[in-house]
Amino acid sequence: MGKTVGIDDMAAYLPKLYVDAEELAKERNIPPSKITKGLGIERLAIPDAHEDAATMAAMATLELMEKNDLSPKDIDFIEIATETSPDASKPISCYVQGMLEQIYGRGSFDHVGAPETKFACVGATYALIDRLAYIASGWNRAEYSIVVATDIARYRLNSSGEPTQGAAAIALLLKEEPRLLAYEPEFTGFGTIDDRDFFRPVESKTAVVDGQYSIGCYLRDMRIAADAYKRNMVKLGVLKSLRESVVEKIGLASFHTPFPKMAQYAFASFLIHDWRGLPKWKKIIEKIGPEPSREGLSDVEFYISEEYKNFRRKFVKTEEFQSEYKSKIENSLIALRQIGNSYTASVWLGVESHFETRNDDLAGKRFGIGSYGSGSSAIVCSFIVQPEYKEVVKKMDLMRKLDERQRIPIDVYEDLHEGRLKLHESVIPPKNEFALVSFGNKSYDYGYRYYKYIT
Ligand code: CAA
Repeated sequence: MGKTVGIDDMAAYLPKLYVDAEELAKERNIPPSKITKGLGIERLAIPDAHEDAATMAAMATLELMEKNDLSPKDIDFIEIATETSPDASKPISCYVQGMLEQIYGRGSFDHVGAPETKFACVGATYALIDRLAYIASGWNRAEYSIVVATDIARYRLNSSGEPTQGAAAIALLLKEEPRLLAYEPEFTGFGTIDDRDFFRPVESKTAVVDGQYSIGCYLRDMRIAADAYKRNMVKLGVLKSLRESVVEKIGLASFHTPFPKMAQYAFASFLIHDWRGLPKWKKIIEKIGPEPSREGLSDVEFYISEEYKNFRRKFVKTEEFQSEYKSKIENSLIALRQIGNSYTASVWLGVESHFETRNDDLAGKRFGIGSYGSGSSAIVCSFIVQPEYKEVVKKMDLMRKLDERQRIPIDVYEDLHEGRLKLHESVIPPKNEFALVSFGNKSYDYGYRYYKYIT
């Protein structure tokens, strides 16, 4: 047995502005229920003019440091995961290091390692596993490391992806003997396939996405990773055979959630795959009819075929699905419905949403993570909720932050989206926060980003 390592605490940062999903739908001539019920989104978090993925990451990190009373010398690494970095060369983590030194003093963070990890929405989970492995190896020079997931999900105005936009950051504090979640490295499963479902060329501010196809890629990779996770459980004797259910071993879970309905699709596919062959599956297909045939179809074609979608629609209405979904997944979506997509931060915001909204005792439960990044790769892994987790949860306040935001009208949202507001024209002028204040305009710093803590 190696050392026990994991997540000791987390701190989320949300932009203070949001767009109401119904209002956006009306403006775009889409039935509002398509967004609120069909996709499951109620509000979309929108960054202000002075914000970017770096300021959001710095704000989340500062809160994490302050609420745990940490000083710079306690921190070994600050690793940032993002797919919306403003710079193709300099990592956000180094900008964040500089911002933190404005608070803690020049040179105070010069000992930290500060890489940036990119793999679309699965980047933070990769960064987390790397950093935890480093701590478990004993190579760390300070007790804590921080991994921050930060992203701004942005699609073209009027595109099918537009209603799924959002933004957020979440900082995860990692250490040995964590108080919140202990990682189970031995079960982790990966599923990776070079694909074109979603990408953002360096010259573009918005992503290119093949929407329905991307859903198929998500489900395919998640199944490959889940199969690997299950095989590892069998190898280590947690399951006796591949015919046993893996979902029964999991107490609660969070999936990458580009829009809340996707978590339902993912969990339904997970259960269909997991329950096939169990005695209860026979009863289910007696009620809803047999699973459609895959013959002649690739995995992605199958997952996005009308036949499979119809079958899944019937399955999600069964009592068996509903009871698993309500007890294991639904709470992760309470916050995510109010944020929209936040790419690599999303799955971890789902974790915090569970912690803040569940009243039952979670200590000792296995917390499953289904992380997906386009391009494409999925990670299925798990943690055990630690006995002292409630003390940590007491200081989490994502739900409060959700309530304290300001709604903006669609024309203001469009101005922000299209970059028509200058840095000093923020809807809410920055106060007690990091802000992007200027861009370099000399030959030696053209385009460089200057950040300042505004009091
Ligand atoms: N009232 C209620 N529900 C309605 C409705 C209405 N008037 N009209 C449609 N719906 C329902 C549909 O029935 C469907 O639900 P079910 O599957 O349960 O039946 C749901 O709304 C969605 O409908 P569509 O599939 O027709 O939606 P769409 O094709 O217009 O858009 C999308 C969905 C393709 C995901 C689009 O939002 C998009 O392109 N999003 C960006 C890409 C994305 O998020 N991909 C997800 C996987 S990739 C990933 O996860 C990485 C990442 O973060 C990007």
